Amino acid sequence: MGRTVLLTGGAGFIGSHTAVQMIEAGYEVVIADDLSNSERSVVERIGEITGTIPIFYECDVAHKASLEQIFREHKIDGVVHFAGFKAVGESVEKPLAYYRNNLDTTLTLLETMGEHGVHDFVFSSSATVYGMSEDVPFTEEQPTGGCTNPYGWTKYMIEQILRDAAAADPALSVVLLRYFNPIGAHESGLIGEKPNGIPNNLMPYITQVAQGIREQLSVFGNDYPTHDGTGVRDYIHVVDLADGHVAALRYAAEHKGCEVFNLGTGNGYSVLDLVEAFREVNHVDVPYEIAPRRAGDIATCYADTQKAESVLGWKASRGVEEMCRDAWNWQKNQ
Ligand code: UFG
Repeated sequence: MGRTVLLTGGAGFIGSHTAVQMIEAGYEVVIADDLSNSERSVVERIGEITGTIPIFYECDVAHKASLEQIFREHKIDGVVHFAGFKAVGESVEKPLAYYRNNLDTTLTLLETMGEHGVHDFVFSSSATVYGMSEDVPFTEEQPTGGCTNPYGWTKYMIEQILRDAAAADPALSVVLLRYFNPIGAHESGLIGEKPNGIPNNLMPYITQVAQGIREQLSVFGNDYPTHDGTGVRDYIHVVDLADGHVAALRYAAEHKGCEVFNLGTGNGYSVLDLVEAFREVNHVDVPYEIAPRRAGDIATCYADTQKAESVLGWKASRGVEEMCRDAWNWQKNQ
């Protein structure tokens, strides 16, 4: 209690929901975000939900002087690092921008933390580090690598940097969180996911089709070895995911070294399962067509959630109905 956490990228989709859950758990929240893929109004929305407006710095986390200022002006106890580029397709077109941005922000942050005696670090990693593995459910121990795009490699490389940093500095506490597929929104409908342009990810595409912004969903492949031929993923409600960060930060405060946890539900839903659930829960139509497979996609991906449950004491509690309801509630407010 009374601890202060810095959330880089705290105005983004996962960052903003984590800000809410952190404030509700008693943390003082400082957000650093360059607003390159988010909006200033999100900070006020977090205040509307929680009754406390987080402290906000509009800055690039790779800019040392800006970070210095934050660490000078606040006694930061821990950092959750969300800031980073995250569009898979764009990373293939602009690999250097992805490596530069995602690695630089992390390195600058770690150096600045070191200079200010801050040791607790939670990193926003991804199940993408499991690459093309089809050995489901994915456990934290299984090999990583074989990523299919530069975005995925940045996550893989940053994990390695953090393991090395923790091995070299006995004071450091690092938690790597491998997210599965975060969807949904805060139940207030005040914050949610706002993709730039045409959505890459399934749920924002579904909500835009349901609202009539897009004509129909393209289902990328129906010849995968799954129960209905469409890709299976482990969708997790973003508020559950946010709670996972609260548990991870508490863990970091009590344990040195580097630990990795999957954050998923352990359940797999196909593309058509999700479309069907969305229609049923929200009573709206989602027209779709079957399209060719998308390059780099795997058939099935879901988490082994044992470690997060037993070590962090965290478990997702919201089902796919709540994910569909809250995603639609948010979209309708747009
Ligand atoms: N899909 C469609 N149509 C669409 C969009 C997606 O059929 O318009 C399908 C995909 O083929 C896949 C599933 O819906 O089977 C989920 O696709 P998403 O793009 O929503 O998510 P991915 O599983 O491909 O990727 C997500 C994150 C990545 C992260 C990865 C980790 O977007 O950042 O999970 O496993 F790296």
